[in-house]
Amino acid sequence: MIQFDEKNSIFKIDTAGSSYVMGLADNEYLGHVYYGEKLSDTRLSYLLGMDVNPFTPKQKIGEKVSFMDCFPLEYPTQGLGDFRESCLAVRRSNGQEQAELIYKGYKIYKGKPTLAGLPATWGEDSETLEIILTDAVAGLKVTLFYSVFEGMDALAKSVTIENIGEETVYLTKVLSSSLDIRPGSYELLSLHGSWARERHMNRREIGYGSMGIETCRGISGHQENPFLAVVSEGTTQSYGEVYAMNFVYSSNFTAKVQKNQFDHIRAVMGIHPEHFTWKLSPGEVFTAPEVVLVYSGEGLGKMTRTYHEVYRNHLIRSEWKDKMRPVLINNWEATYFNFNTEKLLDIARTAKEHGIEMLVMDDGWFGYRESDNSSLGDWIVNEEKLQGGLKYLVDEVHRIGLKFGIWFEPEMISPDSDLYRAHPDWALHCEGRVPGQARNQLVLDLTRPEVADYIYDSIATILRSADIEYVKWDMNRPLSDIGSSYLPSDQQGEIMHRQMLAVYHMQERMLKEFPKLLLENCSGGGARFDPGMLYFSPQFWCSDDTDAIERLIIQEGTQLVYPLSTIGAHVSDCPNHTTGRVTPFSTRGDVALSGTFGYELDITKISESDRKEIPGQIEKFKKYNPLIVSGDYYRIASYQDNHDYDCYQIVSKDKKKSIVTFVQVHAKPNAKKRYIRLCGLQPDLYYQIGEEIYMGDTLMKAGLPIPVVFGDYKSMIFELNQLNK
Ligand code: GLA
Repeated sequence: MIQFDEKNSIFKIDTAGSSYVMGLADNEYLGHVYYGEKLSDTRLSYLLGMDVNPFTPKQKIGEKVSFMDCFPLEYPTQGLGDFRESCLAVRRSNGQEQAELIYKGYKIYKGKPTLAGLPATWGEDSETLEIILTDAVAGLKVTLFYSVFEGMDALAKSVTIENIGEETVYLTKVLSSSLDIRPGSYELLSLHGSWARERHMNRREIGYGSMGIETCRGISGHQENPFLAVVSEGTTQSYGEVYAMNFVYSSNFTAKVQKNQFDHIRAVMGIHPEHFTWKLSPGEVFTAPEVVLVYSGEGLGKMTRTYHEVYRNHLIRSEWKDKMRPVLINNWEATYFNFNTEKLLDIARTAKEHGIEMLVMDDGWFGYRESDNSSLGDWIVNEEKLQGGLKYLVDEVHRIGLKFGIWFEPEMISPDSDLYRAHPDWALHCEGRVPGQARNQLVLDLTRPEVADYIYDSIATILRSADIEYVKWDMNRPLSDIGSSYLPSDQQGEIMHRQMLAVYHMQERMLKEFPKLLLENCSGGGARFDPGMLYFSPQFWCSDDTDAIERLIIQEGTQLVYPLSTIGAHVSDCPNHTTGRVTPFSTRGDVALSGTFGYELDITKISESDRKEIPGQIEKFKKYNPLIVSGDYYRIASYQDNHDYDCYQIVSKDKKKSIVTFVQVHAKPNAKKRYIRLCGLQPDLYYQIGEEIYMGDTLMKAGLPIPVVFGDYKSMIFELNQLNK
């Protein structure tokens, strides 16, 4: 529920368990009053601190700057004397940079508006508050949007900036959210990584000054995920206060946390101001991407379950969202670039015999691409490799009884390609300089409409040419050489954001034309695993690291925020191609079960004993997947923390079923049985596990016995079924 208490000048946004409160000072300045456990009253303006120094500018004009530097501005701007992190900076035609936002009015309504050109949460059972602020001197109207969803402790915030003046202005910084938090001992939790080790959980104390996470790579990146949580010291899965924010955007971002002289904490999030300037002519509107805030007063577990619910019900749109995905086999780790029609059909035939449902043809089927140094941009089937053509291959795969998927990397161009030879200008580059390559490739300048159209048509032509059910959309290098020979000099600062908008637009076009397509996004593994991408694709390739033990840590960090149904996870061959580790085939299967599930190996070459396990693994997938994708997720133990074992549990909404995955990473000599305390069960009802029967509260308080097993990397899945009363 959202309300405005006029008498107390208080806006109060309530969710099932939280309240987000703002108030007006002098009826002019919008301040942040409170975010936390739900409050029942609106007499809250005292929390703005107006009864003590500093007074509001109206009462004491001589202390306006002191006021600005202490007041918890809801949407802080630059140049007025608030010296903390700001959200908005504007350069006017006279070169001066200042913005002062004065409250003008509000609207409260059912539903939630879409964000022009951007991914965003949605839902009919939502309610929205718009607060309108204006700057009469700079000629700006700033609208702050706040939306909540029935039954969820989440808040979606976004901002639009409209030029209502007569002069063109330049936005040099537009962040999407600011949150002031009262003094306390807090830690910063983020998801940090690198290629092949994405989203490792990272926690550090919040000290004085600014700290945070960011990317300027043009992808959300392997290094930092656009997620940040300010958590009270000592927060665990079930204890502590959590203020989390996640950016619904897939390119440059900044997220900063700042502890100031009075121990107040400000947390901001939005598009990174580096490489960003936006020309805003009279009448134009700039829309900043959305931030999804989640508050939990009961630790990280509740935050996780809230994000999962919001994303499953209010972000992912694909018609595959709630459907079981086909069990796929991808030929990348099986063949790399070395394949042809016969090889793929061999894989397909054996795959079919073992219950696999889809063949995905990865990189290397187009142009003359035999390695990663050519042909991106030449989306023409290489008929020397695919004898008989693509349609023949797809039809044959269908005849065998499998669906067919294909790989693209649409945003890229190889210098060694017909496309580059014809249009060297189509790659991003700075005039007079040779653009830098990564993985032997350059980035297409998608700010040029003819480039985006050309690439879209090339891909669509392939998709129209055969009955293709799945696309893996890859993106394998960060953006550099940020220059476009298309945009005028005063819009070069728009390239990074325009590039992202163009990618979103291309994916939207593709999904409109091929609505049944199962789209998986990918970026050198999981470098774009963010809510922005999930708006377009229900799943994302989690990491190029398919080693089951590394995946425990990568998937734990990913599952902290993103639903299990979105996590691309495959069983691959051993020794693992990234780490060289050898793990049991069964463990690889059990770990991949907490994602979309599939295979990434040459099924014709693996050992007979491994191959024989595949039908059983697929049977487990079919049995457990409905629970895995719809249930409540509980992180029981973390191998990253204890360096010993990993354990997570999923419980159905009605608490009737649950599965517990336990992985013993390191065997110990003279080990004793462990007792693992479970979560989320019905305390007063009995559950059957194998032959044994336990009461819910026994399992949650005393624990589930885990047998001692011999050897490293051993996994177990326990199935719990509630017994009738
Ligand atoms: C990226 C992907 C891989 C594979 C290769 C192909 O690295 O993450 O899964 O598709 O590209 O070049």
